[in-house]
Amino acid sequence: MAQTIRTDVAIIGAGPAGLLLAHLLAADGVESVVVEARSAEYVAARIRAGILEHSTVDLLRQVGLATRLQAEGDEHRGIYLQWPHERHHIDFVDLVGRSVWVYGQTEVQKDLMAAHAATGQQIHYEASDVALHDIGSTSPSVTFRGSDGRAHRVEAIAVAGCDGSHGPSRTAAPSAGRQTWERAYPYSWLGVLADVAPSTDELIYAWHSDGFAMHSMRSATVSRLYLQVPGGTSVDQWSDDRIWDALATRLGHGQGGWRLTPGPITSRSVLPMRSRVQAPMRLGRLFLAGDAAHIVPPTGAKGLNLAVSDVALLAPALVALVRHGNGTLADAYSETALRRVWRATHFSWWMTTMLHIGTDPFDAQLQLSQLRWVAGSAAGATGLAENYAGLPIRY
Ligand code: APR
Ligand code: PHB
Repeated sequence: MAQTIRTDVAIIGAGPAGLLLAHLLAADGVESVVVEARSAEYVAARIRAGILEHSTVDLLRQVGLATRLQAEGDEHRGIYLQWPHERHHIDFVDLVGRSVWVYGQTEVQKDLMAAHAATGQQIHYEASDVALHDIGSTSPSVTFRGSDGRAHRVEAIAVAGCDGSHGPSRTAAPSAGRQTWERAYPYSWLGVLADVAPSTDELIYAWHSDGFAMHSMRSATVSRLYLQVPGGTSVDQWSDDRIWDALATRLGHGQGGWRLTPGPITSRSVLPMRSRVQAPMRLGRLFLAGDAAHIVPPTGAKGLNLAVSDVALLAPALVALVRHGNGTLADAYSETALRRVWRATHFSWWMTTMLHIGTDPFDAQLQLSQLRWVAGSAAGATGLAENYAGLPIRY
């Protein structure tokens, strides 16, 4: 016999989307139960991207989640865009009056977990056999097996599918009722963390005929760097020396006196690059948010920020539904969220195709021409700045 738990909102997934949603709902007196497949330790340690756009930082501040971000994060005015022998600073603050913050998603995740634990709301880690039921009715539920092996059933007014692209939520509705658009890119990123002070004050996005490279950072002593590699690459194919040599070449070590300082690599992984959007983001009483509804390639640094903006729209919709039986915002959720999702999807695709090397030399010349225009024209640079620093949540 399954143990039955009654709550307002059943949230599947304890990533940034799920935990921020739980936090925003709790602030408005709406109760939730979170069901997560992985362990708390695993979720807290996952290495992800590290740029928070303006509206994400504003929201985290408003809801009391920015104390450590403000103490330990780093505000950046813009980025460097470069190609061989040229490096240009794109100053978002000058161009659009907005900055971004460098603060690892791993740290955001830890802050969300601490805040969630402090509210004393229920969370079930290491859940297996997670399944959704009756999402087309007004009393949906989620069943799962707990870490103790016992069967549980969460009965709720609504279910939030925040379980990423591999979770059960995005395929819970009949396939006839949903549509998916996808783009797979033929390359991946090899990402490394290194115990070395960043060799730059702001992120460098570099076009190079050997492939794209990026220099990011996590703190004054930890650098995060990426290399474009062919799809299907294994980390074993890249020794530390090969990684640092490729980074030095592609990032322009020695040009204009700039130097890349190598250091001990503490982590490495290969990230596939793809775009995917699923619509609608609401199916009966199931609401999708974050990676469950859409994936972007990391080039535009939008993954976490989109998860945050989805949830910022979803929380008031669920509060109105649960507390006042008012479904107006819930009915509008999918359309409102998808406008922003498609903007970020286009921007991420645009950054990706502008910076990554393909097989066609004609494309490479077009890329260089586009880079010169973006870096050299106020109109081009403003377009990049507006999208990168982030559009308003209600776009
Ligand atoms: N049952 C319960 N939880 C599940 C299941 C399942 N069957 N499958 C996956 N999950 C959990 C994952 O373990 C993960 O903790 O759902 C969570 C989804 O979290 P994220 O992947 O962090 O996705 P999201 O919260 O939408 O945040 C999006 O994270 O992946 C990055 O680049 C992405 O920055 C973006 C951000
Ligand atoms: C990162 O710091 O991990 C990072 C930054 C910017 C991106 C992608 C990843 O576009």
